[in-house]
Amino acid sequence: MLQAAGLLLLAAPLYGQTQPIPYSHKTHLALGLECGACHKNADPGEFMGFPAEGFCMSCHQAIKTESPHIQKLAAAAKAGEPIQWERVYQIAPYVYFSHRVHTKAGATCETCHGPVRERDVITKDVEHNMRSCMACHKEKHAPNACGSCHEENF
Ligand code: HEC
Ligand code: HEC
Ligand code: HEC
Ligand code: HEC
Ligand code: HEC
Repeated sequence: MLQAAGLLLLAAPLYGQTQPIPYSHKTHLALGLECGACHKNADPGEFMGFPAEGFCMSCHQAIKTESPHIQKLAAAAKAGEPIQWERVYQIAPYVYFSHRVHTKAGATCETCHGPVRERDVITKDVEHNMRSCMACHKEKHAPNACGSCHEENF
């Protein structure tokens, strides 16, 4: 019994089915939405951020209103309580990372996140760690001194 529960706990994150609402990129990007419609990259540009529930409701006040998932979304929008999306890509807080620096340098979303348009569930298609960051920096002649990515004595 305990073992079975343990397996379930392991299996859930593995298949990425841990999101509070089963949002699908594949379904929504097929409607012609672009990444920037939902991921805004507000100043100063570090974070891409997550979409405002009010934006989702611009469609869902009329679409699929009978779905319990959409009802959960509508309740969150009405209460002004952001949905607590389970993070997929997250690096340690002691590492500097800016989306804007990288998109300005010409890296696409797909370079670092894989074929998001084809995914119902986002999982880590691309691994990011010190080795992979430094490999691309070496290839692109970007800074690779420790202090470029870390504070001193972190
Ligand atoms: C209609 C809104 C919408 C659009 C358009 C959209 N996304 Fe998302 N995105 C979300 C939501 C909601 C989540 C959180 C749920 C999840 O992870 O699936 C998310 C999560 C992500 C994540 C995971 C981030 C993390 O660390 O947890 C990545 C990466 C991502 N989106 C990339 C993209 C890319 C690339 C595009 C364009 C090809 C795109 N998204 C278009 C709504 C959107
Ligand atoms: C050079 C690689 C790289 C590129 C290019 C990139 N990302 Fe990311 N993305 C990351 C990393 C690394 C994280 C985790 C950042 C963290 O935890 O601080 C991340 C996190 C995210 C998140 C979670 C929220 C956040 O900002 O932490 C979203 C959403 C996301 N990316 C969407 C996108 C979209 C959309 C694009 C294209 C416009 C894009 N990313 C381009 C590497 C990249
Ligand atoms: C441009 C309009 C539009 C926007 C904006 C939009 N959606 Fe959707 N969404 C749709 C359509 C169309 C469907 C497919 C409906 C169907 O299956 O008949 C859908 C389906 C869904 C479903 C599946 C519902 C179910 O039970 O089958 C979820 C969950 C969902 N959307 C969540 C979101 C979230 C979260 C956002 C904001 C990040 C969002 N949507 C933004 C149009 C939109
Ligand atoms: C696809 C290749 C690529 C990947 C992957 C990548 N970077 Fe970069 N990064 C660059 C390029 C190119 C620049 C230089 C941009 C410029 O000078 O305008 C850069 C610049 C930076 C800078 C600014 C450095 C400075 O001193 O100006 C930081 C910090 C950084 N990257 C951190 C990271 C981290 C952390 C990761 C891994 C999570 C990462 N990068 C992954 C290509 C990449
Ligand atoms: C291009 C960016 C980049 C550069 C340059 C870089 N690092 Fe890192 N470093 C990272 C990332 C990304 C991680 C892993 C964060 C994570 O796992 O979430 C990391 C993790 C670490 C860790 C923690 C490892 C652990 O988990 O215990 C140490 C220690 C470290 N770096 C030291 C250094 C030193 C020393 C240098 C210079 C030789 C350096 N870093 C240069 C990006 C970088």
